[in-house]
Amino acid sequence: MDDPAAQNPDPDRPGGPRLKRLLPHAAPGSVEEIVAGFDLDGSADLDPTHPADRPRVILNMVSTADGHATLGGRSGPLSGPADRALFHALRLTVDAVMAGAATVRVERYGRIVPDASRRQTRIARGLREEPLACIVSGRLALEGEIPLLADPAAHVVILTPSSASLPAGAAAAEVDYIRTARDGQLDLVAALAELRVRFGVRTLLCEGGPHLNAQLLGAGLVDELFLSLAPLLAGGDFDGTPAHPNPAHPEALRILAGPLFSPPVALELLGVLEHDSGLFLRYAVRATQAGGVA
Ligand SMILES: NC(=O)c1ccc[n+]([C@@H]2O[C@H](COP(=O)([O-])OP(=O)(O)OC[C@H]3O[C@@H](n4cnc5c(N)ncnc54)[C@H](OP(=O)(O)O)[C@@H]3O)[C@@H](O)[C@H]2O)c1
Repeated sequence: MDDPAAQNPDPDRPGGPRLKRLLPHAAPGSVEEIVAGFDLDGSADLDPTHPADRPRVILNMVSTADGHATLGGRSGPLSGPADRALFHALRLTVDAVMAGAATVRVERYGRIVPDASRRQTRIARGLREEPLACIVSGRLALEGEIPLLADPAAHVVILTPSSASLPAGAAAAEVDYIRTARDGQLDLVAALAELRVRFGVRTLLCEGGPHLNAQLLGAGLVDELFLSLAPLLAGGDFDGTPAHPNPAHPEALRILAGPLFSPPVALELLGVLEHDSGLFLRYAVRATQAGGVA
């Protein structure tokens, strides 16, 4: 998802959005209250197949009601206050946050938890001050305009099949590498296992983008999907207009890109929230092994 920290650094303070709890039905609550009851580490038996050899992976994405994952190349225009609050609240509950390099570049990722009082909330919950920031990249073309890498307080782990590193001096952040290549391609199963063993990551929030999502789902590595359905219809086959398509993705991006899943991945609905006509759906990914791609 878009990194909304810059748009609204503190969207869940008193007066922040209160969401209707449609399923399971309960009184409205703030996003923080609601997310605190989510049991994202799976310890309350929501998912008896909780993996022991890799982190539990939670995918968080936003789309229009007709399936666009971007407008004009960004996900920000799809996000409202409740979606932004959910985005931040989920970050407060996990050990690590991961995104593909394109998302990190396009959305100009910054510090994962920019607000000091929210970092204290994490510490009070027994978590490290900030989630580990994980970037999946082959080319390592990450230097330059990415605030996360320029932040000396950030700890970044780059998951890559490459033996190369960022150029000396390219990052002020602490940078580690997980290098798991098989036949020259990134082995995501091994990379996630290394995240678990080497960095103690039990819960991993993946924030996209669609190319990374598809690989994770295809490899059976996603346990839950949070999908925000923005009350918007974008129409069209393009991201942008036919006359001015987004040069990075002329065709409209959906939350998954790449080959078809055959059979489709099955989801089970766990929860539905509503705010201002936006729907916030929580699914368990039941058939985690997509059965190969067509
Ligand atoms: N609606 C939403 O919730 C949402 C969420 C996130 C992003 N987005 C949008 O999605 C777009 C970006 O998504 P995307 O699907 O194009 O890209 P992406 O999945 O974020 O990143 C793709 C990049 O990740 C690296 N990568 C992925 N798989 C790899 C592998 N197996 N081995 C090595 N490197 C790998 C590569 O980086 P290198 O190029 O460095 O090798 C690749 O170019 C943006 O427009 C963003 O705004 C929307």
